[in-house]
Amino acid sequence: MTSQTAATPAGPGRVGFESRDTAAGRVVVLHIDNPPVNAGSHGVRHGLVEGLSRACAEGADAVVIAGAGRCFVAGSDLREFGKPLAPPELPDVIRAIEAAPLPVVAALHGVALGGGLELALGCDWRVAAPGTMIGLPEVSLGFVPGAGGTQRMPRLTGQARAIELICDATRIPAETALADGLVDAVVEGDPAEAAIGFLAETKRGKRRTIELTPPAEPVAEIEAAAARATKRGRGRPNVAEAVRLVRASAGPDAAAALADERAVFQQLRLAEDAVALRYLFFAERRAAAVEGLDLALARPVRAVGVIGGGTMGQGIARAMLGAGLPVTLIERDAEAAARAQSAIGATFDGQVAKGRLGAVEARDRKDRLSVDADIAALGGVDLVIEAVFEEMSLKIDLLSRLEAALPAETILATNTSYLDIDAMAAGLSHPDRVLGLHFFSPADVMALLEVVRAARTSDAALATGLKLARRLGKQPVVARVGEGFIGNRVYAAYRRRAELLVLDGAAPEAVDAAITAFGFAMGPFAVADMSGLDIAWAMRKRQAATRDPRARYVAIPDRLCEAGRLGRKTGRGWYDYGSGRAMPDPEVAALIAAERSAAGVTPREIGAEEICRQLMAAIVNEAACLIDEGIAQRPSDVDVALVNGYGFPRWRGGPLYWAKGQDAAAVQADLAALAAAVGPGFRAGPVAVVLARLETAEAGGAAGSQGGDTA
Ligand code: NAI
Repeated sequence: MTSQTAATPAGPGRVGFESRDTAAGRVVVLHIDNPPVNAGSHGVRHGLVEGLSRACAEGADAVVIAGAGRCFVAGSDLREFGKPLAPPELPDVIRAIEAAPLPVVAALHGVALGGGLELALGCDWRVAAPGTMIGLPEVSLGFVPGAGGTQRMPRLTGQARAIELICDATRIPAETALADGLVDAVVEGDPAEAAIGFLAETKRGKRRTIELTPPAEPVAEIEAAAARATKRGRGRPNVAEAVRLVRASAGPDAAAALADERAVFQQLRLAEDAVALRYLFFAERRAAAVEGLDLALARPVRAVGVIGGGTMGQGIARAMLGAGLPVTLIERDAEAAARAQSAIGATFDGQVAKGRLGAVEARDRKDRLSVDADIAALGGVDLVIEAVFEEMSLKIDLLSRLEAALPAETILATNTSYLDIDAMAAGLSHPDRVLGLHFFSPADVMALLEVVRAARTSDAALATGLKLARRLGKQPVVARVGEGFIGNRVYAAYRRRAELLVLDGAAPEAVDAAITAFGFAMGPFAVADMSGLDIAWAMRKRQAATRDPRARYVAIPDRLCEAGRLGRKTGRGWYDYGSGRAMPDPEVAALIAAERSAAGVTPREIGAEEICRQLMAAIVNEAACLIDEGIAQRPSDVDVALVNGYGFPRWRGGPLYWAKGQDAAAVQADLAALAAAVGPGFRAGPVAVVLARLETAEAGGAAGSQGGDTA
């Protein structure tokens, strides 16, 4: 259909220029070429402005902007975001597109995210390949779209939908974007050809998005969307700003609204939250990599086995089914197997009823699940994960039976929380095929997956675990074997410090209030009530004989358990749930007072600031110990684990990132106070050394873009 008349090849970080004679006249195709994901860097912006002006000078009839390689543009290059942006900035590029007298079409494929989507919205028309993922993720990175996203999107979708898409940082496929009005056609085949075909067929001319009249919509809907976004944003300033800016798109002065958006963007991108979120963005990508490991060694996983259909086994099965995998679930007997199957099915039905899952998809997931009581049914699977009771002898026996029943290539994973995986695999002929895949409850919801590299785990097994994590949409963090791996170990130190604060004078509700004000989703005592106090109680009983007799012991949780207060499931724990809400209970206060006097403690006032700093010190110290032992590969992995698995406030970057930003002398004082409070048996970690090693540099990552599809 087209004949090429002139071409200037692109190069890395540049924009190629190609002029074609087509059914739509002389069309210039600008190819953005900045591998791996065409991040919108300075070179790209410059190339687009030059290409456009050359196209105009040469009298072209239209311009198509397309991405070379696997996507359109995955976002702006985040490495440029920590410093002043060099001109031309993205709004300058869009101004040039709007000023050009010819129609400019964005030809999208792969992803068009962040600045990439803003660029496309700045064009006159958008044509997308099927499945192209589209979205504005800026809010999840602590700032707001800054190149017209909050002004142009609502002119196409309406304000309510724009608030939803921008504030939730939602990615939608091109097919949904078509229904939303964000793209004008979804076409198979080469995206640039498709864009030219679109122009030839529709004879569309210039149509600046910024000049469109926004679609009419009920004010009540806009207000509901704004209220919902503000609530979900938990008071983050950038969410409130994003809502305000979208609403301002209805005003008469578009130029002023664009300038307002840009000013807010410039200020927020340099704010503490955004810097912390960019740190985490790069830390999360690093966490998925192991130095010297070739991910290409990963074995294909076409079907999985799950053993144990309890809380975790069901959640893991749901996660695997959600990722499109066939699952065979094994329980102790046929009845238990059938129970697990119907419980999993009921969860999917519940999601359909709430509109969160399509009925066809739910049916498909159920069809891919089979259950059995015999491990012989696992013959065809590539990976088995066990989630049976947390008992060493049971797991050892199970692994040896699996080894006998399955081919040598089948990877065997354990979801153990605390047990020694080296000991678990020691008796096998092929311990190299064993690794830990430690999910968090609920396993189909929580983002974190600790991939545990046991002493003899092969590179192939490790690579398979990491690839599977990605397929499940999880955030992997690699850990070595050690009690509680990374997350549970750090959390145990945090919880222990929280209990000591209560023994020394703080009320449990004061501890929870201080840490939720800091930004945690929940406080340690509310979390304990939610998970149930009996598991830790059983562990303390097991450890009683070997406990250091000089160590300070907080017996309050034992007393709660003895009083039948096992947490939410018994209606009472650290709090009383009789009213449906967690209420402080005078009975608990009396029990605490009795324990304080039994321990000879004179309670003192402990303020919110001290509570937070002591809890942070406990986390940071334990993190330094486990990094020193090589349990975590790098300091930033601990931040990634705490944010993705334990409700640590994302916008604070993580505990080590937070500590690095504090005055060093104050951190040392906190650590000294921690050592004094914990008393005998306290082990000081090399905190200063670990904080010095923390990779804070934004430049430390590979090319990072807002979309994040950089690996
Ligand atoms: P659970 O008690 O809810 O479920 C265990 C299931 O395993 C039961 O349904 C039981 O019938 C089944 N089972 C026991 N022996 C079996 C065998 N030989 N063959 C087949 N099925 C058998 O326990 P949960 O909470 O699901 O924990 C399972 C594992 O996951 C444990 O190792 C635990 O430490 C770990 N884990 C638990 C987390 C949690 O939050 N509950 C979080 C992360 C890991």
